[in-house]
Amino acid sequence: MKYLIETIGCQMNVCESDTLSEALSDYEMLKVSNVSDADIIILNTCSVRSQAEQKAFSYIGRIEDLKKQNPNVKVVVIGCMAERLGTKIRKRFKSVDLVLGIKDIDKFALKIVNLCKFNTVNSDVLVNNTSQIISYVTIIRGCNNFCSYCVVPFVRGREVSLDNQTILNQCQKFVQNGTKEIMLLGQNVNSYKYGQTNFVSLVRDICKIDGLKRLRFMTNHPKDLSDELIELIANEKKICHHIHLPMQSGSNKILKAMNRKYTYEYYLELVYKLRTKVPEISITTDIIVGFPEETDKDFNDTFEAIKNIRFDGLYVFKYSPRPNTKASNMLDDVPLEEKKNRLSIILNEANKISSEIVSSMVGKTLEVLTDNFYDNTLEAKTKSGRKVFIKNANKDYLGKILNVCIEESKVHSLFGNIVV
Ligand code: SAH
Ligand code: SF4
Ligand code: F3S
Repeated sequence: MKYLIETIGCQMNVCESDTLSEALSDYEMLKVSNVSDADIIILNTCSVRSQAEQKAFSYIGRIEDLKKQNPNVKVVVIGCMAERLGTKIRKRFKSVDLVLGIKDIDKFALKIVNLCKFNTVNSDVLVNNTSQIISYVTIIRGCNNFCSYCVVPFVRGREVSLDNQTILNQCQKFVQNGTKEIMLLGQNVNSYKYGQTNFVSLVRDICKIDGLKRLRFMTNHPKDLSDELIELIANEKKICHHIHLPMQSGSNKILKAMNRKYTYEYYLELVYKLRTKVPEISITTDIIVGFPEETDKDFNDTFEAIKNIRFDGLYVFKYSPRPNTKASNMLDDVPLEEKKNRLSIILNEANKISSEIVSSMVGKTLEVLTDNFYDNTLEAKTKSGRKVFIKNANKDYLGKILNVCIEESKVHSLFGNIVV
C-alpha cells in the first residue's frame, strides 16, 4: 500500500502528519510524493481561516477528477476541518472515503489501515527512514484561551497537557535516532502543567538529554511568559534564541475585543525583558488586520508598534470570521479591500525591517545547525531561527553544528561559507 499525505495548517498538523506516517510505516505502508503513485491520499486540514478551508476544498476537487480515472484510490480527510465539518465533507464530495476529525487523532492510523485492509507493500521498496535532524513533539493538545476570533478551541477542544514522562521518552527516542533539535509544540506551550511538572521544569529535563543540541518551543502566549522562563532561555545553552510571541494588534481596544488578556504596554515590557536578558534573541510575531471595528487609528497603533519593536519576523493575516467564535457575532466591518491594503502596509514595513536586520549580519560568524541538503546546497538555521544557505557544500556536513561566515543577505535569508 502506498499513501500520499498532504498537509495544510500549522506546525502541529505537520507534526501530526509525521506521527501518522510513522504509525503507517509500522503497518508496512509506504509514503510516496506523487499523487499518481498513491493508493491512498490523505489530506490533513486546517480551519483557522476561511482561506485554509478553501484550499482543502479545491484540493479535494482535484482529487475527484483523479478518482474518476482511478476509482480504487482511497481518499481520507483528517484534521481540524474534518473535525469542524465532519460528514458534511463526505456528503459534498463523493470521492471522500473517510473523514477523521482531530479528536480521533489516536485512532487515525488504525482507521486508515482498516479502510484498506488489502495487501501490504513489497518489502523491497519499504524505506522506513524515521531519522530526522529536527523533530517535533506535541506537549499540549487543545486550547483554553478562546481568543474571540479563533476557531482552534472549538475544533481541538480544551487544553490537555501530556504526560511528562511520555514526552521525555519520545524526545529520548528521537535523539537516539539522530535528532539534533527538538521543537516542542502546543497552541500555548508555556502554560504546560502536568502534576508537579510545569513548562520550565519540563524544558530543563529535556535539555539534560545527551546528544540533543538544540531545543525550541512554540507558540508562546504573552500572558503566560514568566520571568522564570525568560531566565531559563538566557541560561540554558541548548535553548534557541528565538521566541514566537504573537502580538495580534498594537491597539488596546482591539486586544481587549480579541480577548488576548494583555495590553500593548505589557507586551512591550516583555520584549524589553527578553532583549535585556537575552540580547541576541530573535522575536517573531503574528498580526491580524481588519478585526471588527479596527479603525485607522487602531491600525496605526499596530503599524507604530511594528516600527517600534522591529520584529525579526512577522506573519500577518486578514481577519476571517469563523463560525461559533465570539467575534463572528460582531460586524465584519472592515472592507476586504481595506484589509488587503492594511496587510500590504504591514508586510512592506516588516520586509524592510527584516532586510535591515539580515543585512546587518553580513560579515558575522554565526553558529548554525544544518538540516537539509539539495542541489549541492546545505540549508541551516541559526540559533535565532534564521535560514542560512551554504552553496557548493558537502553532504557530510548534514546534521552538524557549524560556524558559518555570512557573505550575503536577502529579505529573510542569509548565505554563507563554513569556517574551518
Ligand atoms: N495558538 C497560537 C496560534 C494560533 S493560529 C497563538 O495563540 O498565537 C495562528 C495565527 O493565526 C494566530 O496567531 C492569528 O494571528 C491567526 N488567526 C487565528 N484566527 C484567525 C482568524 N479568524 N482570522 C485571521 N487570522 C487568524
Ligand atoms: Fe487560538 Fe488564542 Fe488559543 Fe492561539 S491562544 S489557539 S489564537 S484561542
Ligand atoms: Fe493548526 Fe489550523 Fe488546526 S492552525 S490547530 S491546523 S485550525
